[in-house]
Amino acid sequence: MSGIVVGRADEIPAGGRKIVVPFRGRAGIGIFNIGGRFYALRNICPHKRGPLCTGEVAGRGAAQSPPSVSDSQIDYERDGQILRCPWHAWQFDIASGQCLVDPTVRVKTYPVLVDGDDLVVDVDVSDFSRER
Ligand code: FES
Repeated sequence: MSGIVVGRADEIPAGGRKIVVPFRGRAGIGIFNIGGRFYALRNICPHKRGPLCTGEVAGRGAAQSPPSVSDSQIDYERDGQILRCPWHAWQFDIASGQCLVDPTVRVKTYPVLVDGDDLVVDVDVSDFSRER
């Protein structure tokens, strides 16, 4: 593992994001600020390799029980915590990288540290040498 400074923490306000390409010619990493906590995801969708981190950040609809004729209440939850891939709209939990469409799929995540004013992403460089 090695830490890469990806910018200043105050560059990414709550609800914001920044996409960095720390290794030339590679897809890069998306850093997201959710309520003051930072998360980093690989910018490659595990479905068909779309630019995941450029997708819409939103929430999701959720029902307490399967909708029926008498009860069709669908709530909106986790606003600002779900990333939707721009290619085929698969949804991912930003904090964990877990795909909400297929529970067997997860996008790579990286720890993010705030070191003074700097944001440092802890990446395994070998992850990027295998990519293409
Ligand atoms: S490439 Fe991301 S959902 Fe298909």
